[in-house]
Amino acid sequence: MKVLVVGSGGREHAIAWKCAQSPRVERVFVAPGNGGTALEPRVRNIPIHAEDIGALADFASREGIALTIVGPEGPIVAGIADRFAARNLPCFAPSKAAARLEGSKAFTKDFLRRHAIPTAGYRVFDRSNFDADFVRAQRLPMVVKADGLAAGKGVVVCETHAAAIDAAAGMLAGGFGDAGSTIVIEEFLAGEEISFIVIAHDEQVLPLATSQDHKRRDDGDRGPNTGGMGAYSPAPLVTPALHARIMHEVIEPTLRGLRQDGNPYTGFLYAGLMVAPDGTPNVLEFNCRFGDPETQPIMMRLKSDLTSLCEAALAGHLDQSGAAWDSRAALGVVMAAGGYPAGYRSGDPISGLEAAAQLPGKVFHGGTRLDGSQLLTNGGRVLCAVGMGATVSTARAQAYDLVNAIHWDLVQYRRDIGYRAIAREEHR
Ligand code: AMP
Ligand code: GLY
Repeated sequence: MKVLVVGSGGREHAIAWKCAQSPRVERVFVAPGNGGTALEPRVRNIPIHAEDIGALADFASREGIALTIVGPEGPIVAGIADRFAARNLPCFAPSKAAARLEGSKAFTKDFLRRHAIPTAGYRVFDRSNFDADFVRAQRLPMVVKADGLAAGKGVVVCETHAAAIDAAAGMLAGGFGDAGSTIVIEEFLAGEEISFIVIAHDEQVLPLATSQDHKRRDDGDRGPNTGGMGAYSPAPLVTPALHARIMHEVIEPTLRGLRQDGNPYTGFLYAGLMVAPDGTPNVLEFNCRFGDPETQPIMMRLKSDLTSLCEAALAGHLDQSGAAWDSRAALGVVMAAGGYPAGYRSGDPISGLEAAAQLPGKVFHGGTRLDGSQLLTNGGRVLCAVGMGATVSTARAQAYDLVNAIHWDLVQYRRDIGYRAIAREEHR
């Protein structure tokens, strides 16, 4: 079979790499892909933009693509699943209506409240009803969020009421374009954040291996929020008891609620959860896609055929499927361009990839492009180096051996990926 992966980041490299290992797959196309997918055996880049749904559907139809897997939220929220379905093209992604869970925070908060799923208390405002007195009456810190997609930048944790009013006013004045014309103001939640990702079809669900991401740019979880600076799997915080709570209190009621609302869900569903000190799994957000960089370590651990799992979901046979996992831990360190997540440089030559290829583990590409035979930086999150090991600590050592082999001008990365998990291992 032929598979099409839509997107160009590290997540899509990992998905394409995994699909290409399947004995059922003759070729994987990636649209548009990156320098890493260009070099991957049995994988070929196609110069179609991830949001050009018409051209993607034409390509899938012409090539006889048996399965399309969509990486980023953009084309999903824009309705790629509906457009492919209308042309009988198998596409593993939720419908536009179901993807509102990621596309609108106000919609999601109302959904969560309606279905009694744990989440922070909140109020929704737009320009016509914004109430600074409400803000002044809230406990600090508090959180101000733009309603729509803002590439992970539309969330501000505010330590003072003045800062919250400023942040809200900036969003409502158009600082995030349409994404901020509606805002959510919510209570700050203490606890530890995890990523809980499942494959879903209607009310059938297959939980994937647990994972944890580091969203802040700098060591010690400081500095600006990013798309994610590193991730590992499994997340030792998620005991079997917590896993069961997440399934019963979050995932199952969410899928049931979507069905009751007339928007049954098919695809990867990513719940960003803040686990409170008492173990309550509060929903921070949903993503209607796999995580980046969570995908990279999770794909390294997945022993089952990803294409079969996606096809089983699309056919409604997910309840008869299981996933097998490598018992080792996997840990990925993101290597980012200087300046990320603000303005960053592109076009710097990357050295050391040949040396890294001789080491154990795997380097997935995000923002890279191939210029002749030279790989150049071409985005904020450039690479994700993934190591494996019997413990998170040994996986981390392998990942940093890869990182240390690779260089470009002004490369930046965190040196403490996995610190919480490693502290837990050491206390055992
Ligand atoms: P979101 O895009 O809503 O997931 O928010 C981005 C990041 O902001 C999250 O990953 C959290 O680290 C942080 N965050 C969001 N909402 C809250 C909250 N209510 N309390 C504490 N931290 C939050
Ligand atoms: N790693 C966070 C995300 O994919 O949204």
